[in-house]
Amino acid sequence: MPLVTTQHIWHNGELIPWENANIHVMSHVVHYGSSIFEGIRCYAQPGGAGVFRLSEHMQRLIHSGKIYRMPLAYTAEQLASAVVEVVEANGVTPCYIRPIAFRGYGEIGVNPLRSPVEVYIANFPWGKYVPGTQGADVCVSSWNRLAPNTMPSLAKAGANYMNSQLIRMEAEVNGYAEGIALDVNGYLSEGSGENLFIVRNGTLYTSPLANSVLNGITRDSILVLARHLGIPVVEQALPRELLYICDEAFFTGTAAEVAHLRSVDRILVGDGSMGPITKALHDAFFAIVNGTAEDRYGWLTPVKVRELATV
Ligand SMILES: Cc1ncc(COP(=O)(O)O)c(C=O)c1O
Repeated sequence: MPLVTTQHIWHNGELIPWENANIHVMSHVVHYGSSIFEGIRCYAQPGGAGVFRLSEHMQRLIHSGKIYRMPLAYTAEQLASAVVEVVEANGVTPCYIRPIAFRGYGEIGVNPLRSPVEVYIANFPWGKYVPGTQGADVCVSSWNRLAPNTMPSLAKAGANYMNSQLIRMEAEVNGYAEGIALDVNGYLSEGSGENLFIVRNGTLYTSPLANSVLNGITRDSILVLARHLGIPVVEQALPRELLYICDEAFFTGTAAEVAHLRSVDRILVGDGSMGPITKALHDAFFAIVNGTAEDRYGWLTPVKVRELATV
């Protein structure tokens, strides 16, 4: 998807012009993948706009840094204010927000500890992520997700996305919208950039964090909404073949939002259409983010906007 630029990017406490947000080729991150980041959406509501679960995203960024011994010079609250500042300065909503921290320029060698930590926050318009207007046709990937005790899946680290890239490219060259990876023990894990949910006999299933998944903030939101709607929820290790005999399946993620799966490995999921539980959760999610239902969990941080982007 081509990047649509905005005017400003936040860098270490100040707004700089988009075109000046550059780094040196000898920066640590370029060689050793030492970055952590977030993806956040800002949605438009009648009469305004709001950033979805901003504090949880900023907390996860700080936790990713903690896992990688990459302390950020800002608190979650300061980073949340910086997000509001850059979104308001650029004035474009709805939008996608990309905070990123990485080890910058100064030293060479694997050890990152003496390379400076740089923090940037950009925002730009970004529309639908998972292809397929009638639901996504996906495959099970030949690539496994990260093995425990190799790359920590609870850190949203740039380097994890080399694995995601293998999954996504394999799916695309084989004509699928996305790939679902198994963990190293063969249990369902997640998509290259999405958590996975399955519905069977009225119960909602998702893989627990121990199956090498990112602790998705949309995943958490869907679990909250499911409990609110009285849908039974089970977090347990799930065998691959459940994908072929379940009634409904969908992805969740900031980019993917709530995206129903039409088929897996060319086997229809249910009758291929969006099933009633997926629809109830999808509608409940979009009602909150689009402002047609009350924001009863305080998930939206208001921002002032000038322009509505077409995405
Ligand atoms: C690998 C992976 N899993 C799951 C998710 C979903 O997480 P979230 O809902 O916090 O965006 C993402 C997206 O960030 C991801 O990259």
